[in-house]
Amino acid sequence: MTSAVSSSWAGLVDDLITEEVLPQQWRAAFLAVPREVFIPDVIWRQVGDWLVPLRRADDPEEWLRRAYGSGYVVTQVDDGTPVGCEGRGWVPTSSASRPDIVALMLAAGRVEPGMRVLEIGTGTGYSAALLAHQLGPENVTTIEIDPELAARAQAALATAGYHKVTVITGDGAQGYPTRGPFDRVLSTAAAPQVPYAWVTQTRPGGLIVTPWNSPYQPAGLLSLTVAPDGTATGGLVNTTISFMQLRDQRIHRATIAEVVRDTDVPDISDTDLHASHLCNSPDARFAIERQVPHCEWEYVPASSGDGRWCMWFLDSATRSWARFDYRPDTERWPVHQFGPRRLWDKVTAAYRWWESAGRPPATQWRFTITADRQNVELQAMAEQCLVVSDHLPAP
Ligand SMILES: C[S@@+](CC[C@H](N)C(=O)[O-])C[C@H]1O[C@@H](n2cnc3c(N)ncnc32)[C@H](O)[C@@H]1O
Repeated sequence: MTSAVSSSWAGLVDDLITEEVLPQQWRAAFLAVPREVFIPDVIWRQVGDWLVPLRRADDPEEWLRRAYGSGYVVTQVDDGTPVGCEGRGWVPTSSASRPDIVALMLAAGRVEPGMRVLEIGTGTGYSAALLAHQLGPENVTTIEIDPELAARAQAALATAGYHKVTVITGDGAQGYPTRGPFDRVLSTAAAPQVPYAWVTQTRPGGLIVTPWNSPYQPAGLLSLTVAPDGTATGGLVNTTISFMQLRDQRIHRATIAEVVRDTDVPDISDTDLHASHLCNSPDARFAIERQVPHCEWEYVPASSGDGRWCMWFLDSATRSWARFDYRPDTERWPVHQFGPRRLWDKVTAAYRWWESAGRPPATQWRFTITADRQNVELQAMAEQCLVVSDHLPAP
């Protein structure tokens, strides 16, 4: 690392501390762990719709700038087999997370010396190295589903002096009972359904911290405390960060073309409810997601440049859709709806419920994980209590 890169990285770390994103006690680990050992020689950058490789040997300065930058670094695309022509990739499937998000997760995990931690999603091995620096490598177990990534991370950990970290190739949704119970399970892949194995492998009083997302509210960080009765309860501590998902919990985001056909004959109505209310606030989105599962939305600006745009609501399973057409010169807008699920009606009813409930923040919803269920209910609302259960997928 050049001295310029080193001092800009130290500045970035100090900014995270000043902004109270990174607890002071992590400063030494962030400065000691050599990030470039963990970032592979080939990383990926967005060019138009595609991810294209950036090789360290071709542009060492740019590579180093990204490795020590404030953004995330895509380190694998399309599960290791780029789907585009000329080796271009479509979907990022592994990355070194943004330093502020790594910091936020470690802070949410309240990781203290002496603890034993299970990390789900080794990726580059960088977070595991930070944990190893802080806790001692023998207290860190990390699982990566992709064998090539696991092998690479293990080699990087050894190069950086953390060869005693236990790196497992396997499905992190199963945890790793052999090394449990853990004080903390920290997942760096999103788990819309928190695997119960994480609960059984965390000691009572311990924490599970995992990104969480859903089609309608695609961001969040969940913190759960494990109780002696074998359940875990908690809620969202952040509603803006988004992660790639556990492989077997990937949410397929349908495209408009997949759901909508030219031959569809929609019902047409109009509304004075501006669609931005339904999609802008994470708190509203969370409440809508709870009541209208399997619905996603997509904003499409018009190419005409006259201020028009559309908001689509889509459910690919039932091939239902709704479209809100915005134009600036009116205060009532047309809505088209098609299919067995009247998505506009459902989404707006859920939004009105959220408004009438006093606009509860997403952080006010309580998650409870039991062996067969993930309950999500709004706290402190005895009369208007809304409980939504998600059944866990069969093991
Ligand atoms: C955001 S990356 C992890 C970043 C990583 N902690 C780091 O420091 O570089 C998420 C990782 O989770 C992995 N992953 C996805 N599903 C998984 C699963 N079921 N079990 C274990 N790892 C999984 C992905 O292959 C990917 O490498």
